[in-house]
Amino acid sequence: MDIEEDIRSLNLESAEDHNGVINPEDSKPEEVEKSDKMDEDPKQEVQAQAVEAEPKVKDKEVLSLQDEEDEPEMTKRHLNVVFIGHVDAGKSTTGGQILFLSGQVDERTIQKYEKEAKDKSRESWYMAYIMDTNEEERVKGKTVEVGRAHFETETTRFTILDAPGHKSYVPNMISGASQADIGVLVISARKGEFETGYERGGQTREHVQLAKTLGVAKLLVVVNKMDEPTVQWSKERYDEIESKMVPFLKQSGYNVKKDVLFLPISGLMGTNMKTRVDNSVCPWWKGPCLFEALDAIEVPPRDPNGPFRMPIIDKFKDMGTVVMGKVESGTVREGDSLLVMPNKDQVKVVAIFIDEDRVKRAGPGENLRIRLSGVEEEDMLSGFVLSSVANPIPAVTEFIAQLVILELLDNAIFTAGYKAVLHIHSVVEECEIVELLQQIDTKTKKPLKKKVLFVKNGAVVVCRVQVNNNICIEKFSDFPQLGRFTLRTEGKTVAVGKVTGL
Ligand code: GTP
Ligand code: MG
Repeated sequence: MDIEEDIRSLNLESAEDHNGVINPEDSKPEEVEKSDKMDEDPKQEVQAQAVEAEPKVKDKEVLSLQDEEDEPEMTKRHLNVVFIGHVDAGKSTTGGQILFLSGQVDERTIQKYEKEAKDKSRESWYMAYIMDTNEEERVKGKTVEVGRAHFETETTRFTILDAPGHKSYVPNMISGASQADIGVLVISARKGEFETGYERGGQTREHVQLAKTLGVAKLLVVVNKMDEPTVQWSKERYDEIESKMVPFLKQSGYNVKKDVLFLPISGLMGTNMKTRVDNSVCPWWKGPCLFEALDAIEVPPRDPNGPFRMPIIDKFKDMGTVVMGKVESGTVREGDSLLVMPNKDQVKVVAIFIDEDRVKRAGPGENLRIRLSGVEEEDMLSGFVLSSVANPIPAVTEFIAQLVILELLDNAIFTAGYKAVLHIHSVVEECEIVELLQQIDTKTKKPLKKKVLFVKNGAVVVCRVQVNNNICIEKFSDFPQLGRFTLRTEGKTVAVGKVTGL
């Protein structure tokens, strides 16, 4: 039985098409309005800012807020891009290079990183240091936390989420991917490296399947390290990788013609990134460079008028309580009253920040920091959802789900009593399967008549799932981003699924 075929049969992508919240008239770039900024501390403005993994809220207070109608519209659209792929594929290097090429990092900082990398005997890692900001990451040459940075092209503001590739940090990758609209899948073309990443147990496959489940609608597949001595911009190698990846991407549920684009780059050298690769380096590539490809990606339309939903990813104290997250539905305005679910705490929106800018309102898809009054930081957990008062998100301890069993540990059986860790938007919670309701025939897609007591790898099954604490989730058909999940045990993804009943 082909497990990947079964993932497709889950039809995770189908809800995007009839996710009742899409309004074609709203396909114009999201409306995000910048307020006039006035720095209280003029020194702040001139400081060259190294990219922080998690920039703190800056105190750029808005001194005069005009009426919404008077504000200039921010015409650039916004996209969240997650960098995924096997360990050492070059995600951080490529992310760092993008920031360098777009002018976010100056030459002096690069020289400083070159020296630091050399001191750690990691010469070639200096570009990755732009994204890998903590000491552990730099010493080991591996991303641990999802790095976060921003850059702009002519048409688009991008938030880069640089996920770790190492298998120990898959939960962090899941958190990064759940905030993203599109993915850049980085693949190393270096001899042996593509192969290791692509094998079963390699993170190329796991990341692709997780990205699809978590709602990453489109993928740019960058075949990286084309400069490497074992590759030397070989068309043969590039074609080999593309031809092996295409069937796998299809099986994972991606429409390869519509939703996937391949291109060759060298993240380390910066080749075919901001400008197209020179003919003398690579005579056979006639397609776009990375920046062009990123600019051309269409954002899925999102409904600014839906009920407000923002899962909380993180929170901290900064002149009040500040929460971080991505708006999955609706619009938030300064002064709004909202509910923090599941605790039903009534809060007021004191200030909204996109990157370093304070804004008066923000729509779906934006990564925000919101300062709230009416709640203490201690009273919130990541996984809580900031929600509209009139139409709050449901809080449950039990739900019905359809899931595909990918790979159980040691070929265990999946039955009532099975325990795993549930990852759904920013929620991470122990769960137990309390009842198997129906097995779905993967060929006919119809439920089997016979009552089912256990299933094995590859099965598609509808079951009742229980958690100990209240969690805020939605039916997949209503809000795909808040209704799709993965089950993991002992560091491995064992199943992917969607919520079908609450
Ligand atoms: P994790 O965060 O640990 O998953 O790794 P990563 O995908 O972020 O890889 P990283 O950017 O840290 O790069 C790993 C190694 O590959 C470093 O030594 C880089 O210098 C090297 N590398 C990355 N991109 C290129 C490239 O385009 N060409 C060559 N030759 N080496 C590269
Ligand atoms: Mg990295």
